[in-house]
Amino acid sequence: MQDNNGNNLSRRRFLKTGVGSLTGLLAIGYVGLIGRFLTPPPAGAEPLMKVGTVDDFILGMPRLVAYTYGGVEQGVYVTNMGLNGWLALDFHCQHLNCAVNWSPAENEYICPCHGGVYDINGNVKSGPPPRPLARRVIQIQNNSVLVGGRLA
Ligand code: FES
Repeated sequence: MQDNNGNNLSRRRFLKTGVGSLTGLLAIGYVGLIGRFLTPPPAGAEPLMKVGTVDDFILGMPRLVAYTYGGVEQGVYVTNMGLNGWLALDFHCQHLNCAVNWSPAENEYICPCHGGVYDINGNVKSGPPPRPLARRVIQIQNNSVLVGGRLA
């Protein structure tokens, strides 16, 4: 066997080069695949997704809608706030990304991981979260409720 410069390659060197290249390609593919699932899409990058119709949402009562985008499970609390419009909040806690739960009895979002508490608008009431729940794009079109990516 000869390399590109016309030099003879030993069988051992040929195999080493081939195995090394194959290992490198597999590593790059693995990192790319894992990164696809762990890295959230940039703000506003997601297309609008229909999550229901206006009638599916009770006034003043957050409802969790879930869908998959880019291979990642998405969770968004959608609330019809009446005269204040519609609100879409990402369900990931701003402390360490646990999924928050809406508590109708307490009228607040509660994070089960470290006790973070948010009000209906997503503002931090208590606990370790450093900032409010992330807001998502929300639009009402022809009685359909559409949710998009995070607002910057
Ligand atoms: S992840 Fe929610 S309070 Fe820590």
